Amino acid sequence: MHRRRIRFAKAETPVVYYSYLYEDVERETEVANSPANEPQQWVHLNGVLTPKAEAHLSIYDHGFLYGDGAFEGIRVYNGNIFRLHEHLARLYRSLKALHFDLNVDIETLKLRIVETVRANQHTTGYIRLSVSRGVGLGLDPKHLKSDPTVVISTEQLRLYPQEMYEKGLEVVTASTRVPPAVCIDPQVKSLGRYVNNINAKMEANRLGAGEALMLNMEGNVAEATGDNIFLVKNGILSTPPSHQGALPGITRGAVMEIAKELNIPCHESVMTLYDVYNADESFLTGTAAEVIAMVRCDGRDIGNGLPGKMTQCLIKAFRERTYQDGTKI
Ligand SMILES: Cc1ncc(COP(=O)(O)O)c(C=O)c1O
Repeated sequence: MHRRRIRFAKAETPVVYYSYLYEDVERETEVANSPANEPQQWVHLNGVLTPKAEAHLSIYDHGFLYGDGAFEGIRVYNGNIFRLHEHLARLYRSLKALHFDLNVDIETLKLRIVETVRANQHTTGYIRLSVSRGVGLGLDPKHLKSDPTVVISTEQLRLYPQEMYEKGLEVVTASTRVPPAVCIDPQVKSLGRYVNNINAKMEANRLGAGEALMLNMEGNVAEATGDNIFLVKNGILSTPPSHQGALPGITRGAVMEIAKELNIPCHESVMTLYDVYNADESFLTGTAAEVIAMVRCDGRDIGNGLPGKMTQCLIKAFRERTYQDGTKI
């Protein structure tokens, strides 16, 4: 295995390439600047804009103790927060399912997010909104001694290097399955659910792939560890329905919307690995990954092993949208 150290142009604040492995290149997390040169960064912690170095959580936070919480990853492009309302609406649906109230309304949360992005001057970046049920030892929420924990932070982050957006991504199928929807509902973006996805991601890392596909207990394709999957076959787009174990992704929704506008037939359908291997094209969608071609899966080329025409068209349309739509900061 040869190691290649990846260096990036100096940025105002560190750009974190937090997760990729490709062919013989071992994963590296490269921080472009030393923390000493970083401008002051802020975290919105329980309603208070706090210097990042002073933003601490209790050791008895239910998110830490039990994965008892939910989160959203949100992107800001060129001063526009992409689909902020949709992300927050999904968060509130997750909380309804987890059965706890944030005691903060959606408009206040929006303002806090905008405030954090402005304070950190991240006009293009990644916003992480994490919430937990609160602080208290013991499973029983009766023992909680606080309101829910609400943390908003921002980073400059890109999931994959530009080269991968041009050449596409190699993916493997993980042996780790998504939990059945009757046990952990895939529509809930809960903290605890991600132990499985982390396992699957480690499988991809071990095999030198950029991502892992995850199957459900029936062996149908659900999604990737942090992305939804789309196939293109005979000019028709398809993606697994949520009940197969897929998070109803915001990027997925945006791509479906674009497809409709471009008169590209698109539907949700149950799919197997056979369908993936025999697709004409495939791509993954996610807030962090955006839209990226998946060109090989489990050692098989998908189509001709290059990003397909429809994938490229949707990547272009999605990028245009991210620069136009959004909540201005
Ligand atoms: C498991 C999983 N599936 C799919 C996605 C894509 O969803 P979105 O487009 O909302 O980021 C994500 C990322 O949030 C994810 O974690």
